[in-house]
Amino acid sequence: MRVIECSTRDEAAELVAGEILRALQAKPDLVLGLATGSTPVGVYERLVAAHCAGDADFSEVRTFNLDEYVGLSALHPQSYRTFMREHLFGSIQIQDHNVRFPPVDGFDLRAACEQYERAIVDAGGIDIQLLGIGSNGHIGFNEPTSSLASRTRVKTLTDKTLGDNARFYKEGEMQPELATTMGIGTILEAKRILLQSFGEKKADAIHAAVEGPISSFWPASALQLHPDTAIYVDAGSAARLTMRDYYRRVERNERGMSS
Ligand code: GLP
Repeated sequence: MRVIECSTRDEAAELVAGEILRALQAKPDLVLGLATGSTPVGVYERLVAAHCAGDADFSEVRTFNLDEYVGLSALHPQSYRTFMREHLFGSIQIQDHNVRFPPVDGFDLRAACEQYERAIVDAGGIDIQLLGIGSNGHIGFNEPTSSLASRTRVKTLTDKTLGDNARFYKEGEMQPELATTMGIGTILEAKRILLQSFGEKKADAIHAAVEGPISSFWPASALQLHPDTAIYVDAGSAARLTMRDYYRRVERNERGMSS
């Protein structure tokens, strides 16, 4: 697990977007696992800018989103489908049939979740999975105590997550407490994982994810089992890491080796 401490969110977004754009150059039909929330917005802005400048072609890219609320229509302002349309899909000329979200309605959700898993496999697996992290250590909507081997399924959101995300809802607006999410087992099958975390509110979660024991109580700690994960943090989110100097030294050496 690499820990890359950045001086600003912009620096992290630049590095993450740069990696995605290089991967896209090398593989035009790249398979991306995508996240929502405030954290990946800077990355999406850069991908849109690269597309508008004619430097990135998304016409063959396939995407799988991590999660979606159960009970919100695709056009609901708080749905993750709306979020992705507004922040990325509406501006990069991606093909509709190449964009997928976990199922949130239909007669047999369980079967639809299995089909989502199959679609990921049929696409050849996720090349790069983008992640944020909840202040309780969740990834996607895999809340604490989610099985580390879990697959795509419906989860009940914790009070902590509902409270953290309440800021996106107007007073009195219905906030869903169920969501379909890729499982931790699903996420761990991505070839490369890029997690970003900003702000001190996430410092405990980052500490547990990077330096804590692997535990379903801090779902992001499962990433320690993944062979190719990079964690981009600002100083706030890095505040509780005990080996910060070491991580900086590792990055200096890595840069030295690749130049
Ligand atoms: C939601 C999403 C997560 C995201 C988290 C953090 O709960 N399901 O995928 O990582 O929010 O959100 P933010 O980036 O806004 O802090």
